[in-house]
Amino acid sequence: MEKQIPLITIDGPSGSGKGTIAILLAKKLGFHLLDSGAIYRLLSVAALKHHIAFDDEKALVDLALKLEVSFLVNEKDNKQTIFLEGDNVTNEIRTEMVGNNASKVAILPKVRQALLARQRSFLATPGLIADGRDMGTVVFPHASVKFFLTASAEQRAKRRYLQLKESGENVKLNSLIDEIKARDERDTNRSVAPLKPASDAIVIDSTTLSIEQVLDKIMAEVSKHTAFKSTN
Ligand code: DC
Repeated sequence: MEKQIPLITIDGPSGSGKGTIAILLAKKLGFHLLDSGAIYRLLSVAALKHHIAFDDEKALVDLALKLEVSFLVNEKDNKQTIFLEGDNVTNEIRTEMVGNNASKVAILPKVRQALLARQRSFLATPGLIADGRDMGTVVFPHASVKFFLTASAEQRAKRRYLQLKESGENVKLNSLIDEIKARDERDTNRSVAPLKPASDAIVIDSTTLSIEQVLDKIMAEVSKHTAFKSTN
């Protein structure tokens, strides 16, 4: 089943631009979107709300299995509104603090396992763009095309800085660089589903590329695949 529905995975570290690219690509192709990082972010927010510690694996697994979330997609711009237990948490889950907390709960193997079915349920016709850390390696190993997007830590921190400033968050560039490096370290060195390119992923370094240039590169690769011939 996984093999038949067109599916593009985009993995990469925090701030590599994969979220923006995934939204644009989903819109361009008319595909569904899985922002898997949002699911880990939602779990960490729910854990705080229910007073569950980030290392209480058993309680986090229970929470992950019954996590009540919904993603509402605006047909026009593909922007998502995200609800947790009925509350709109679209902006709340994007803070640096939530990102760091998400990275802590994401270390736990049984938590990752508990979230697998939820992530796979996003795969539906006409196709899916899935972005995260382990989309091409663990969640969808049979994806039609896999990308791994990266950029220098400094460049990624700079992008995050501009994004956060725009959304009104008061952050310092230097501390963002340190946080991004710490998060990379945690995401890369965890024992289960570490951040790394799938052996068949196309690696794109976006340090000196604009969003449009990255999108062009991705579309050039995608259009080579038979699964996408009719979608261009
Ligand atoms: O992509 P993001 O910044 O929204 O992800 C937040 C954290 O969630 C990230 O630091 C690691 C974790 N994550 C993960 O472990 N696996 C994924 N597929 C997506 C995110």
